[in-house]
Amino acid sequence: MVGTTLLTMSDQHSHQNFETRAIHAGNTADPLTGAVVPPIYQVSTYKQDGVGGLRGGYEYSRSANPTRTALEENLAALEGGRRGLAFASGLAAEDCLLRTLLSPGDHVVIPNDAYGGTFRLFAKVVQRWGVDFSVANTSDIAAVRAAVNDRTKLIWVETPSNPLLGITDIEAIAGVARHAGVKLVVDNTFASPYLQQPLALGADVVVHSLTKYMGGHSDVVGGALVTADEALGEELAYHQNAMGAIAGPFDSWIVLRGIKTLAVRMDRHSENAEKIVEMLTQHPKVTQVLYPGLPEHPGHEIAAKQMRSFGGMISFRVQGGEEAAVEVCNRAQLFTLGESLGGVESLIEHPGRMTHASVAGSALEVPADLVRLSVGIENVDDLLADLRQALG
Ligand SMILES: Cc1ncc(COP(=O)(O)O)c(C=O)c1O
Repeated sequence: MVGTTLLTMSDQHSHQNFETRAIHAGNTADPLTGAVVPPIYQVSTYKQDGVGGLRGGYEYSRSANPTRTALEENLAALEGGRRGLAFASGLAAEDCLLRTLLSPGDHVVIPNDAYGGTFRLFAKVVQRWGVDFSVANTSDIAAVRAAVNDRTKLIWVETPSNPLLGITDIEAIAGVARHAGVKLVVDNTFASPYLQQPLALGADVVVHSLTKYMGGHSDVVGGALVTADEALGEELAYHQNAMGAIAGPFDSWIVLRGIKTLAVRMDRHSENAEKIVEMLTQHPKVTQVLYPGLPEHPGHEIAAKQMRSFGGMISFRVQGGEEAAVEVCNRAQLFTLGESLGGVESLIEHPGRMTHASVAGSALEVPADLVRLSVGIENVDDLLADLRQALG
């Protein structure tokens, strides 16, 4: 079977710096033509030289495909993991992980601030299969410890969180998880592996929506899992094939292409966001700015310890409640009104009515006066001018 030998080649790149790994890990020249970019192997099946005689180890593209393998190797190298797996979406990756690790009767601890779709997966899908969950503020280590019981199998963390930009101390929670004998899963979508490396801090699995900063251009939907451990990676690869929600060859290729500029993009996202935060904190219509780079943010010191910089996501609350927040979103012009995040273009949205509508009425409900920005890499002066006019 394809797998171990191909996918643990991240070792080859472990001595390299991040930017180099982003460009080279998994991106070996095509052995047939010398093409410096891995081709899009848009193929479902592979000719066998006699029954079982596989030329490159590939037999059927749900099990493995060379373009997806290139991406999976790259993902493992970027997160410093043993195994990377690419899926059709972030939620497909999460679903595979949960149905691999959990059985009826198990319990999980989930954060009180997380992507609404992740909460919906737990509350509306996984729970129906007899898995229950407790919601905890994962910024509070004692609260997480108290939420763990003898049926707990995993702790789920999202840091920075969506949309409140809460920060969880990954290393401290990894200590709680280890002590309890449960797995720690970290959704690293907001930070990307350039800003934060959860596996090095003790997490067992990293989850990504590749749709966001990894792809980086709002032109693909994808997801990933990266494991610290080879055996868990194997188990997940088995389920990835058994369940089938794989990333296709073209989607894998486009994410691999996006990742090559991840480091430079993230630097600019963070730089622009810091300037926008400075303006928002002084604006009379803004009542609160949520950004881990602000010294008054409760997670600031932890973020400074575990992140390279504070990223491109900002949330803020506006005077005048829900209608005022919706108006700001509607008035923005350069900031495109839309869901998702992490692309080169700036986006604005109202989480209560858009990305987080699915958590209304739950412990994860978000404030109605909240606006979320995904700060792109345009010229920051243009972005500042647009926000000033949107705020009125
Ligand atoms: C933090 C986070 N995790 C996971 C997901 C789910 O990813 P996808 O939309 O690719 O399924 C999202 C999507 O917005 C997200 O923001």
